[in-house]
Amino acid sequence: MRQPPIGLEIVKEQTDDEEFAPENSSSVSVRRESNQFSLQESESHYQKANRVLPGGTTRVTVKRMPVPIYMDHGEGAYLVDVDGNRYLDLVNNYTVLVHGHAFDPVSTAVKQQIEKGSCYANPTDSEIKLANILTERVPAVEKVRFTNSGTEAVLFAVKAARAYTGRAKIAKLEGAYHGAYDWVEVSENSTPDNWGDKEPLSTPFCAGVPESVLSETIVLPMNDVETSRELLLRNSEDLACIIVDVMPSRAGLIQLSQDYLIMLREVATEKNIVLISDEVLNFRYAYDGISAAFSFEPDLITFGKVIGGGLPIGAVGGVTDIMSVFDSSKGRPKLPHGGTFAANPISMVAGVACMEYLTEESFLHLNALGDRARSGIEELAKRRKLPISVTGVGSMFRFHLVENAPTSNRAAFVPPKADSIHKEISERLLAHGVMIPSDTSACCSTVMTFADIDHLLTSLEAVIDEMPDFATRLKASQIERES
Ligand SMILES: Cc1ncc(COP(=O)(O)O)c(C=O)c1O
Repeated sequence: MRQPPIGLEIVKEQTDDEEFAPENSSSVSVRRESNQFSLQESESHYQKANRVLPGGTTRVTVKRMPVPIYMDHGEGAYLVDVDGNRYLDLVNNYTVLVHGHAFDPVSTAVKQQIEKGSCYANPTDSEIKLANILTERVPAVEKVRFTNSGTEAVLFAVKAARAYTGRAKIAKLEGAYHGAYDWVEVSENSTPDNWGDKEPLSTPFCAGVPESVLSETIVLPMNDVETSRELLLRNSEDLACIIVDVMPSRAGLIQLSQDYLIMLREVATEKNIVLISDEVLNFRYAYDGISAAFSFEPDLITFGKVIGGGLPIGAVGGVTDIMSVFDSSKGRPKLPHGGTFAANPISMVAGVACMEYLTEESFLHLNALGDRARSGIEELAKRRKLPISVTGVGSMFRFHLVENAPTSNRAAFVPPKADSIHKEISERLLAHGVMIPSDTSACCSTVMTFADIDHLLTSLEAVIDEMPDFATRLKASQIERES
């Protein structure tokens, strides 16, 4: 039985200790009101971490609430932190854990493999099994190459497109996230101050981005068919690939329209540009992946997250012709690809076990949970007359503090006042035993029940009631957005 952390009270106040002031969190902090709830152990871990890790963490995505919550273990749909607090986990390590935590078939497969050794310089049967699963399920995939992360999969897909076409430039959508490869990071975090007009400007993601990277990346406006077509045609002679996520999460978890997807395929075919569908995150939408579900026909697909069952993984898949750039059977290939841990047997067996349980039937349940969450939030907004909308499909959902669901990254842009509301909602939900990402986009796992989703919905309503001046703050955020 779920136990929300008792006695956790969230109050608006500054943290006492400057050293641990939240960097990218609102000024909400957590006060321990009773002996039953404490973040004392997490605080103590964080103090030690600050001595050896820059900013005390290893991932920029780790939130401080006001300190990072250190986990002890996961069990099914739940997480238990080092202080013993228990949370319904709607983060699932950013969509990886499609069967929740410590999923028995995965744990068993990993234990059996580890007894036989963790990695060798030689291939194993398990990589053939996992590759077979992908080629059998995904129409666009005839051959597969494994990597250790989604970032690496994207990197090798882009390099494969360059090796295949002999061209250098890439095209991507404004606001879309594809991991940490320099070119795909361009314009990932563009803002109204720098994103330019109808034709998006190429903006650097971080300090030190070379000018050449910016000029080699063509940035497309999301769901704007005509402007994107024009940009692609103008640059077609130099374009190696177009990389898209059919429902880019950080750009608002918004689907690309059918017209837009058709235009991308048409231009790519006409101009011999490699079309890459990045399914690192959205492969969890359907048995055969999100491209197939939307009748989108890419040349290459990148995978990651769920296909490793919770272990590090990535993969590039596609038609034999393009994938042959990796083929080293007849000497040095056009694109040599290795990697000490590529296709390591632990990730492979975990992936096989996970995927075998990700059946067509399991998707019915998974996506029904997502439907319940989306319709529940919409119903709550309607009942309480709140300008809140929801995007996402399948097991993924995200809510927006605007009346009409946005259809582009620009419409989904979250200005500072709205951002602080999103963060406060996610922080207050902790007190109800619910964990969602701070941008309030979340995902379900197959081990969740409808009662879990209902718990999220009642908690969300309670949080809205608890938040002082919620309606006034929403209004202020709308004025800020319009200004
Ligand atoms: C669409 C997409 N591509 C690539 C990546 C990078 O994957 P990884 O974090 O495994 O490097 C992510 C990660 O969230 C992603 O969502």
